[in-house]
Amino acid sequence: MANIQMKAVRKSFGVLEVIKGVDLEIRKGEFMVFVGPSGCGKSTLLRMIAGLESITSGDLLFDGERVNTVIPSKRGIAMVFQSYALYPHMKVRENMAFGMKLAGASEEERNERVARAARMLQIDHLLDRLPKELSGGQRQRVAIGRAITRDPRVFLFDEPLSNLDAALRVATRLEIAKLHHEMNDVTMIYVTHDQVEAMTLADRICVLRDGRVEQVGTPSDLYEKPNSIFVAGFIGSPRMNFLDGARAAKHGCHTLGIRSEHIDIVADGEGEWTGTVIHAEDLGSDNYLFVEIGAAEPLIVRRPGKLDHANGTHLNLRPQAQHLHRFDAEGRPVSQS
Ligand SMILES: Nc1ncnc2c1ncn2[C@@H]1O[C@H](COP(=O)(O)OP(=O)(O)OP(=O)(O)O)[C@@H](O)[C@H]1O
Ligand SMILES: [Mg+2]
Repeated sequence: MANIQMKAVRKSFGVLEVIKGVDLEIRKGEFMVFVGPSGCGKSTLLRMIAGLESITSGDLLFDGERVNTVIPSKRGIAMVFQSYALYPHMKVRENMAFGMKLAGASEEERNERVARAARMLQIDHLLDRLPKELSGGQRQRVAIGRAITRDPRVFLFDEPLSNLDAALRVATRLEIAKLHHEMNDVTMIYVTHDQVEAMTLADRICVLRDGRVEQVGTPSDLYEKPNSIFVAGFIGSPRMNFLDGARAAKHGCHTLGIRSEHIDIVADGEGEWTGTVIHAEDLGSDNYLFVEIGAAEPLIVRRPGKLDHANGTHLNLRPQAQHLHRFDAEGRPVSQS
């Protein structure tokens, strides 16, 4: 429901500048994910959008209107944090309705919105329980439900799933994706450390680095066309392999990047690199071979299916030519010749 624009936005805490000039537009109804190393300013930027932190300089616009000094409750924003702060003595239903009650909504309206949010998140059967009677994932869904009932223009999530176990993360991730489809004109900004969450939920991902925007694009843009070694190494798991020296020079670059799934095992004499398997990780569906080729770090080679190469196996490897990433000494892409 709202388009969000940041223009030369900066934030300092005392003498420490943590947001160093961010220009970013988040489109109406878009699902934008912020990623970046710990301490790069993701939460701070989110809190500035929410109005929980002041903006040192620059402009924050909602639908073209400057909101720098608009108080949080007037911004039409709902925020869900990593730790779900539910009121322990209130039932789920009361927790979800509390904000609306404060805002003066009628009982009828409160009941209707709680019921709708509960249906969306499949927590209808939990409405009469206390928070302590819920699992972590259920509690986090109640926290999300409470945010929905406030009928926000903008949804902000700061690592909402990071306290959940793997199965619950997947289930709740699905709920959030569904929520985005159902509330398709609500703008969502989502901070995460999780590669899968970023890649699967985002319309676009914004990679932040040390208080600045490093790259913004669709998940596949960032995965296939990173505009720096930083983004190449940050997006994707396992991390992109990087090679330098003669191995890179052969391809006309300072650093050569190649993802683990883009390296083939080939016959003797047909490889570009040779090495020995020193470690293997079997994930069931696929496996990762760590191959020592005499570079700074072992190459990680991803193989579909069962593990088929034991430690000590000698391999000939060849990168897929169309998937090479070539970077110059500054870490920027070498233009394709
Ligand atoms: N209230 C504050 N006072 C002083 N410094 C702060 C304050 N809040 C955050 N910082 C600093 O601002 C920087 C950015 O912090 P922020 O919490 O935004 O990082 P983040 O990207 O969310 O990190 P993480 O991934 O670990 O959550 C950090 O160096 C942090 O120490
Ligand atoms: Mg944070």
